[in-house]
Amino acid sequence: MEIKKEFDRLLSLCICVLTVAGACAADWVQGGVWTDTDGNRINAHGAGIMLHEGIYYWYGERKGKDTYRSPGVGWECYRTEAGGVSCYSSRDLKNWKFEGVVLQPDTIDSASDIHPTMVIERPKVVYNDKTRKFVMWMHIDNPYYSAARAGVAVGDSPTGPFTYIRSERPNNSESRDMTVFKDDDGKAYHIYSSEGNSTLHISRLSDDYLSQSGSFSRNFSGRFREAPAIFKHDGKYYMVTSGCSGWSPNEAEWAVAASIMGPWKTIDNPCRGKDADKTFYGQSTCVFPVNDGSRRSFIIMFDRWNKNDLIDSRYMWLPIELNGDSMIIPWREKVDVYNSMADIAAE
Ligand code: DGJ
Repeated sequence: MEIKKEFDRLLSLCICVLTVAGACAADWVQGGVWTDTDGNRINAHGAGIMLHEGIYYWYGERKGKDTYRSPGVGWECYRTEAGGVSCYSSRDLKNWKFEGVVLQPDTIDSASDIHPTMVIERPKVVYNDKTRKFVMWMHIDNPYYSAARAGVAVGDSPTGPFTYIRSERPNNSESRDMTVFKDDDGKAYHIYSSEGNSTLHISRLSDDYLSQSGSFSRNFSGRFREAPAIFKHDGKYYMVTSGCSGWSPNEAEWAVAASIMGPWKTIDNPCRGKDADKTFYGQSTCVFPVNDGSRRSFIIMFDRWNKNDLIDSRYMWLPIELNGDSMIIPWREKVDVYNSMADIAAE
């Protein structure tokens, strides 16, 4: 009888462990429900992932519960209340701890750029080694996406709190989809869709990263590229962008340059596999480095938008395969980067 009891106890323990492991693995399917260490859905869209002192920080748009369509706008302008910017941290890229809403929306001042009625998209954070501040840039807009501005906030720690400073039209130009890139020499660049989204501007930031330096270039003129995700490898700069079709997926494109300011050479669609012409139903948002065994490689992150219920938009991570002068993003059903992640050292 005692033996039977012990057997039953062990059996239920095994079932329990297997259930937890099974749930975890299922969560890391591309476009599946990805949860944090508390079991809550990760709510951080249009993300940027920053590696700082051996810890990854995932920043993203905190979408509100209800999705609605902005009245009077011709295109499918679906949106939610702007909930500020969320941050999650992880050492292994698998277990993500919610660090809170590190840029809080301003719920008091209805004229504020970060009032919930506004748009806060694609936040990206970089660390300034000189000032020892964490600087966040983001797309700020009104409910009709006609303000086309860039906002900047600053914090003393990667987990904030970040203090909102101001928004601007960088170099007196429109700024919508955007990212920020910090180069090896410590210079940082703000890359944003401008001129009615027809042209991508690359603008060097000031030394403290809090404003534009005045030096910028115009790229991909007339090509209408959005969602820039950029990285550097072996002295060359690589960029993946999407086309312009609101929340609906389209074909990605990659480009390469010897200098970040350009000229950029557009190559082709890097995606391979089923639905590659629709970027696997995703849209690029950032690239982050991983340690793939002995060498540095890169993962590209995509949003899989659900325009009817934006908070339920999902995420995808796919490997970037660089080979000589070619770049390929192959489809993978599951996220399979973990084994090489656990021992990533501070870079
Ligand atoms: C496409 C952009 O990439 C998204 O960040 C968002 O601004 C949507 N457009 C809005 O339709």
